[in-house]
Amino acid sequence: MARRVFSGIQPTGNVHIGNYLGAIRNWVALQDKYDSLFCIVDFHAITLAYDPNQIYDRILDVAATNLAVGLNPEKVTLFVQSSVPEHTELTWYLTCLTSLGSLERMTQFKDKSARQKGNIFAGLMNYPVLQTADIILYKADLVPVGDDQIQHLELAREITRRFNTTFGEIFPEPQPLLTSGARVMALNDPTSKMSKSIEGSCISLDEKPESIRKKIRRAVTDPGPQGGEMGPGVKNLFLLLEAFTEPDVYRQFKTDYANEQLRYSDLKHTIGEGIVEHLTPIRERRAELLAKPDYLKDVLMAGGDRARIEAQETLKQVREVMGFKFPVS
Ligand code: TRP
Repeated sequence: MARRVFSGIQPTGNVHIGNYLGAIRNWVALQDKYDSLFCIVDFHAITLAYDPNQIYDRILDVAATNLAVGLNPEKVTLFVQSSVPEHTELTWYLTCLTSLGSLERMTQFKDKSARQKGNIFAGLMNYPVLQTADIILYKADLVPVGDDQIQHLELAREITRRFNTTFGEIFPEPQPLLTSGARVMALNDPTSKMSKSIEGSCISLDEKPESIRKKIRRAVTDPGPQGGEMGPGVKNLFLLLEAFTEPDVYRQFKTDYANEQLRYSDLKHTIGEGIVEHLTPIRERRAELLAKPDYLKDVLMAGGDRARIEAQETLKQVREVMGFKFPVS
């Protein structure tokens, strides 16, 4: 039987090419090889202040993006976390097996709580416990994650081990499936990550061709090869070149760079056209899908139905080994 993959994505609107290359595109690549569940994690989205009036549309937006880039809902289970309440039940059980110290040590928690202006709520700290529940609820073997999630996955493994040694071996210990490709950096500041909140730093999946070309033209480079070391801006451009053009184009530009014959204006032109060509069909399919919200909702509900059956089965087992003998129904 194919091994099982689980991954989650936050329902933040306005996905950019960094998210696309770092996560979304990889999901599509996995769907033929693994038994995959992909979850839009709205319960995670509420760990920071959010707008209840926007979350539904954002979920549909993420679903449209994933389908537009090629995720096939017949092959994968694409669903919304809140349509399977077992995620929260299992989270509570796991919360009781997770040490406070390990949660406080999570760098993402430290970063997010440092940025948080008002109160810091317990949900933010428990974020990785919910993430663990997501994964083991479906007994997933593999979790495709970017390097920013490695620490969370390590903790997930630790919590899973603790469950297994305390109550019996019922869960596989999930392994990371490191998504390939380096992280895409901001176009206007290649020392920090591409971010949708900084104007000029990113290209969204919906970006119009003219705007794509302009942002690439303005991307930070460097004065030229310096002791064979590529500057961070040029490195980032080569990453985009590799992602959005054919391998022989990439090789040619690499050779030109090595021979000090590369013109950054040519490089930028080629990248700009490559991105435009790649994103245009995605933008069009996204628009078509977003015009059919009922279809998107149906896809997610069908996925939710499939996921829920498995989640209920797991919870039955969990309740049994944990000693809860009063049946749910
Ligand atoms: N925390 C992940 C992120 O921000 C999203 C996520 C939630 C996730 N649950 C998950 C990823 C389970 C992998 C597995 O990217």
